[in-house]
Amino acid sequence: MLQSGAAQRGVSRTSSLARKVAPARIAGARRRTSAVVVHANYKPNAVQLFSPSKINLFLRVVRRREDGYHDLASLFHVIDLGDYMEFETTPHALQDTLECSDPTIPTDESNLVIKALNLYRRKTLQTMYYKVKLHKRVPHGAGLGGGSGNAATTLFAANKLMGGIASNEDLLEWSGEIGSDISVFFSNTGAAYCTGRGEVVEDVPPPVPLDTPMLLVKPPVGLATPKIFKSLDLDRRSSADPRGLLDTIAAAKGVDQAAAVNDLEQPAFDNLPELAALKQRLIESGQFRSVFMTGSGSTIVCFGSDAVPAFLREEPQYKDLFISPTRLITRKPNGWYEHSGMWKEQL
Ligand code: C5P
Repeated sequence: MLQSGAAQRGVSRTSSLARKVAPARIAGARRRTSAVVVHANYKPNAVQLFSPSKINLFLRVVRRREDGYHDLASLFHVIDLGDYMEFETTPHALQDTLECSDPTIPTDESNLVIKALNLYRRKTLQTMYYKVKLHKRVPHGAGLGGGSGNAATTLFAANKLMGGIASNEDLLEWSGEIGSDISVFFSNTGAAYCTGRGEVVEDVPPPVPLDTPMLLVKPPVGLATPKIFKSLDLDRRSSADPRGLLDTIAAAKGVDQAAAVNDLEQPAFDNLPELAALKQRLIESGQFRSVFMTGSGSTIVCFGSDAVPAFLREEPQYKDLFISPTRLITRKPNGWYEHSGMWKEQL
């Protein structure tokens, strides 16, 4: 079992030795020296990181391409629903090892974590292998990019453990080779207007206050991204101009229902009519500024409040839903994402 939260971020826990010795030294010599703090869990060859997920505040599908992919124009934002990951270099190993708290997730070469490590070695000509522990909390088939967040966190971790030999821009560019929505996690602001397959990232200032409460609601059944893109009827898309949607959201400092466009709702709702009904019930609760699906579903984002509507708690048909509060997050320059601390995780 992995640790989490502040305890998991072992670097912030000073040992009793450091607590006894450091204050006296600092008091006498604050201007001349910096204190050497001994960290309880510190291992020079290991790092523990929060692995965030994302939502799409709007998603327009621009065109179907010859290679089977679709060009998008979408406002992505990183959020603090996330997994916890531990990475350790294993200098004598000849392969990576991945342990996952969810036994249904494959831990072989098909996992984006292993793909990210292979990519990192190939691009940097490094030969180091890693031991990775993944404590999974983000549901899959959810449109939350949980696996993509794991891949981005892995690239960041491997690069940190190798002394930061690649730049943020390198990691962003390379990540497009293993998936369409990994690159967004290398945005410097946590907010990005993404085009192409989703891998062309334009950082934007966070358009919405980061403390805006939101509730994520997902039925137990997930949706497979390729199937949803395939069943998109291009004639039933929105005609809204994506740059106009971006400006509208930034000016309103929030997502109103009219701007909450996701062209993938049509195929998702055709595949899963209960999802359309759930969205409608959430709108009718009157509790939220807007309600919309993220990515290719099946998560519905309720924007403006994280209070769980009474019908979700009371009606037996909704007893198996995944429900979580969340907040938008950004990251410090050269740092990685952390949980906002604005809601309590169930660990
Ligand atoms: O790139 P990624 O592996 O995340 O995409 C998964 C699948 O989703 C692709 O194989 C493709 O069928 C579909 N997709 C798409 N257009 C995009 C992104 C994904 O058609 N922009």
